[in-house]
Amino acid sequence: MKKMLTLVLSLIIIVASLAGCGTPQPKPSSSDQSKTTSPPAEAPAASKDGKKALVVYFSMPETTNPNNMNQEEANSTVVVGGEVLGNTQYVAYLIQKNTGADIFRIEPKTPYPTNHRTLVDMAKAEQNNKARPELASTIQNLGQYDVVFLGYPNWWADMPMILYSFLESHDLSGKTIIPFNTHGGSGLSGTVSTIAALQPNANVIKNGFTVSRNTVQNCADDVTAWVKDLGY
Ligand SMILES: Cc1cc2nc3c(=O)[nH]c(=O)nc-3n(C[C@H](O)[C@H](O)[C@H](O)COP(=O)(O)O)c2cc1C
Repeated sequence: MKKMLTLVLSLIIIVASLAGCGTPQPKPSSSDQSKTTSPPAEAPAASKDGKKALVVYFSMPETTNPNNMNQEEANSTVVVGGEVLGNTQYVAYLIQKNTGADIFRIEPKTPYPTNHRTLVDMAKAEQNNKARPELASTIQNLGQYDVVFLGYPNWWADMPMILYSFLESHDLSGKTIIPFNTHGGSGLSGTVSTIAALQPNANVIKNGFTVSRNTVQNCADDVTAWVKDLGY
């Protein structure tokens, strides 16, 4: 009787674990969509050698409509399960999926325009003026994280100026920063050194992940291999 019970229980466990195999594709989580100031404490944070990780990213998809995109809109987006994600946003979700890290989206208080030409001109003006666009929210509970994956698109061979706003208003001393970006041909440019200069007391990993907007939709295996190399 006891043996029978053990067998039934084992079968239940096997069926339950198989049901979990149909992992849904990465999607924006509610914590990310709502401009929350704190990543959710209840989410299982990535732990490598007992260290908690957070994915922080900025991304600027130039449309939310998956249909009839023009070239520029298609260039800045990846459609996943009918949902439009920015290129960097997509990589951020892949990292989250692979590591179980918490996630935080950097957003400007005043949203950027989605029209490509207007956005490009505005970004150039911000760079020329050394602007520090105001953040919609800041991270309150940064102290609990040891590792920060930091993602951004390449804008004018640099980080978007809002990354400067973020890095100058958050103290990442003692943490490991792991940069990643998406681009249209310039790769990471000099951004890794810039991050290290802005956060002199953080350990900034040199081999950040970078992927072209032309291949970003096929980068899932590369992201998996990269985070595996990092020990996740
Ligand atoms: C304002 C702006 C400036 C850009 N400047 C560059 C650049 O200098 N070099 C480059 O390789 N790509 C550049 N790009 C292309 C973006 O880096 C690329 O499309 C990126 O994947 C967009 O990511 P996102 O969808 O996460 O915002 C620029 C895009 C924009 C909107």
